[in-house]
Amino acid sequence: MTASNPPMMPLRVTRNDPIADGINMLEFRDAAGQPLPQFSAGAHIAVQVPSGLLRKYSLCNDPAERDRYLVAVKREANGRGGSTDLIDHVKAGDQLMVAAPVNDFELPPRAQDFLFIAGGIGITPIMAMIRELRAQGKRFRLYYLSRSPETTAFIDELSAPEIKDSVTIHYDGGDPANSLDLRPILAERKNREHLYCCGPRPLMEAVRRMTDHWSSTAVHFEAFTSAETHKPTDRPFKVRLAQSGAVIEVAADKTILEALREHGLEVPSSCESGTCGTCRTKLLAGKAEHRDLVLHDHERADTIMICVSRALSDEITIDR
Ligand code: FES
Repeated sequence: MTASNPPMMPLRVTRNDPIADGINMLEFRDAAGQPLPQFSAGAHIAVQVPSGLLRKYSLCNDPAERDRYLVAVKREANGRGGSTDLIDHVKAGDQLMVAAPVNDFELPPRAQDFLFIAGGIGITPIMAMIRELRAQGKRFRLYYLSRSPETTAFIDELSAPEIKDSVTIHYDGGDPANSLDLRPILAERKNREHLYCCGPRPLMEAVRRMTDHWSSTAVHFEAFTSAETHKPTDRPFKVRLAQSGAVIEVAADKTILEALREHGLEVPSSCESGTCGTCRTKLLAGKAEHRDLVLHDHERADTIMICVSRALSDEITIDR
């Protein structure tokens, strides 16, 4: 699988209204009422916002619906402008270009039991999963971490009598000292559960650390932005390609993956946020600064996810 751009289509915005403090629900439909390309739970769409930026949003409606896409967007006043542009400048009736759904966060079809951990707006792909699993008669437990009831989307739906026993919503009031202790929840893998976690990077990194004893195929993460994987302190370094002997410079604002592609190499990737495992590469020499959520501790000495991780040494050698 190589990162490729799915086809874009013009869709009409049929709804853009608040569902919680700082969170809007947007609905997209085909202007002529045609069915939309099908999606599965965990999929996202890329939306071109009025300023021209392309932004990815997880679909939260029932994958069985073919007539609309629903996304919940959190207004990030200090973000890169996509969410404020969508919430403030788009109204029902507008037309936006939207890419067909892509899924880097799929549910394994044969699994029966699921454990979900959602932080804030990270609930969106999990809402689609819950709808799909309920339709299939499968079981889930959800731990939904949020600041306060006012800032929490989908409370009513998650409090419905038929699912409320499977749902724990934890409010921390914005104080990390009040965070839910996930350690007992993750201490053992019950009923061969698959864990899906989506939320802020620090939450996902904590869950990654607490699940080192789980099978890597049972733990799945989804990141919304690559912004958190770049740091202002990033510095350039060199990558030596063992197969050709070429040495490539990776600039401070580039990833290894981008540098390899600029050099003309075809490199498979998908999520490009360190969560899917597609760009896994053997690390043959040098020290890596790992920023992914895929590798277990014991894999980190000789493996690197080149879409996000960087070098700690001046040069690393990879098996490409
Ligand atoms: S492309 Fe998904 S982990 Fe690198």
